[in-house]
Amino acid sequence: MTDPYRTLLPAPRHAASAGGSFTFGSVHGDPALVEAVQLLLGPLPVAAGPEGALSVRLGAGGPESYRLQVSPGGAEIVGADLAGVRHAVQTLKQLIGPAAYRAGGRPGGVVPCGEVEDEPALGWRGGMLDVARHFLDKRTLLRYVDLLAMHRMNRLHLHLTDDQGWRIESRKYPEINAVATHRRETMVGRFRTEPTFDGTPHGGYYTLDDLAEVAAYAAQRGITVVPEIDLPGHASALLAAFPELGTGADEVLRGWGISAGVLKPIPAAVKLVCELIDELLTAIDTPYVHLGGDECVTTDWPGDPEVAAHMAAIGAEQPGELHGWFLREVGGHLAERGKRMVVWDEAFQTGGVLPDTIVMCWRGDAISRQAAAAGHDVVRAPVYPTYLDYDQSDLPEEPLSIGGPITLEDSASFAPLPESWTDQERAKVLGGQFQAWSEYIPHERHLDYMVFPRACAIAEAVWYGAPADYPSLVERLREGHLARLDAAGCAYRPLEGPLPWQAGGTGRRAHAPGNRTTKERWLEWVARLPDSGVVAKATTHES
Ligand code: ACM
Repeated sequence: MTDPYRTLLPAPRHAASAGGSFTFGSVHGDPALVEAVQLLLGPLPVAAGPEGALSVRLGAGGPESYRLQVSPGGAEIVGADLAGVRHAVQTLKQLIGPAAYRAGGRPGGVVPCGEVEDEPALGWRGGMLDVARHFLDKRTLLRYVDLLAMHRMNRLHLHLTDDQGWRIESRKYPEINAVATHRRETMVGRFRTEPTFDGTPHGGYYTLDDLAEVAAYAAQRGITVVPEIDLPGHASALLAAFPELGTGADEVLRGWGISAGVLKPIPAAVKLVCELIDELLTAIDTPYVHLGGDECVTTDWPGDPEVAAHMAAIGAEQPGELHGWFLREVGGHLAERGKRMVVWDEAFQTGGVLPDTIVMCWRGDAISRQAAAAGHDVVRAPVYPTYLDYDQSDLPEEPLSIGGPITLEDSASFAPLPESWTDQERAKVLGGQFQAWSEYIPHERHLDYMVFPRACAIAEAVWYGAPADYPSLVERLREGHLARLDAAGCAYRPLEGPLPWQAGGTGRRAHAPGNRTTKERWLEWVARLPDSGVVAKATTHES
C-alpha cells in the first residue's frame, strides 16, 4: 500500500511517515476543540487524558497552521487556531483513508504513524457554484461544503442570482419567489451554433432558513459562505418581478450569453437591492457580499427617461459612470453593516469600487495586476485555468461544454501570485478560487464530473500560492486521493477520460468544439479589453 503521508492533497509543507500505526477511538482536550473534532470525525467518546487518545490543543503558529503527530501510543493535533485544528482533522482523515469518508462506520480509525506540519500561503481558498443557471438543491451545497473542507478550502462562493433565475427567498417581496425563481424552459443545444430549447420548466430557490442552514454548516467546517447577488447586469430574473426597474428584459431568461436585461441605476433600484441584501444578511452570517458588476450592458440606459434624468441629477456624462455609482451606493450600504463588497473586475474598471472593495479578477492577469497595483485586495479567478465549466480535454467523448479545453495540467499550472508582479502587488492577493458556471451543468453528478479532480489542483495551488507539481499531483491522485473521492461519493472525471455514462454521446450533449470559447479566442478578447466605459454588449441567443 502506498504511504498515505505521500498522497496527501493538498500536499502539506512537511509530511513524514514513521512506521507503525495508532488505533484511536476517543478524543481529549479543551471542550470547544473536542467538539470541533467530533463534528468532523463523528461522536468519539471523550477520554480522561491524552494517553491512547487523539488529543487536541492550541499552540503557536501562523493563521490556519497546524501540527499533527501520530505515534503508537497516541496522536496529537496542535492548531494555531480553530481553522488549523480543522485542517489537521482533514489531514488525519486522509491518512485514515477511504473508510474515513464512508457513512455509518464507527468514529475513529487506524492512522499510520508520522508527522505533518502545515500552513497555507493564502487566506482565501475557494470554489464558486453557479446555482442560478441550474438550481442545485440544498443537500448538494452541504455536500460541496464537505468536499471543499476535505481540500482545506475555506470559501464557498454562491452565485445566487442571474438572468436565468433568482435563488433567494424574499419574505418582503413574495413576487420574487413566485416569478423570478423559475423559467419556462432551458436552452439545451449548442448555444453558439444550434440553440434549441427543452420545453421543460426549471427552477427552485433557497428559503432564508435553507441559506442559514448552509452557512451554519459551512461555518462549523471552517468555510465562509460568500453570497453573490449579481447586478446591475444579469438582472433578467429580478426584472421579471420588477419590470419597471429595468431595461431589456421581459421574462426569466431561457438561454445563455450576455443579456440586455439590466437594472436601471436609479435610487428606487438601489433601495430594492439594499432591502434584499438586508434580508439575505438575516440568513447568512458573512463578512463579504459579492455584488457582481460583470457584463453589464449599458447601451439602453441613455435612452431611458428615468435613467437619463438620474444621470443629469448626479452629473454623469457616460453610462459607465452610473454602473460605478450603483455599485458604490450598495457598497456604502454594506459598509454601514460592517460588510465588505466583492465585485467582478469590470466594476474596478468602471470605478464602481470603494477603497476596501475586494476585486475578483476573472479576465486575466493584466486586470488583476492593475487592481492590486491600485491597492485593492484581489481574489484571483482567471478563466484560464480556474473556469471548471470548460472541457477537460479534446477527447471526442467529452460532453458539451461552454469553452476549453482546460486540462488538469492547466489547472495545476494556476499561479495565484505571478512572479512578474512586484512584492507589493503580490501582497494584495487574498487568494483564489475555481468557478463552476452551470449553463452546461444541469445536475449534481455532472457538477462532480466537471469540478473534480481539477478542483484538487486549484486547492493545492491556492494552499501553496504557487502552481501544483503536476506529476506529483497525478501520482497522489492515482495512489490515494481518487479512492478517497470515491468513498466520499464524488463522481469525478477519471484521469483517462469520461466513463461511458459520463460521455457526451451523439445527441444534444455531444462534444462540440465549435460551441466553445477557445483559449486563443479568449486571450485575443482579453487583450482588446477597453480601459473603461461600456462593460459589455449583449450576445444572448434567445430564439
Ligand atoms: C464572469 O465570468 N462573467 C464573471
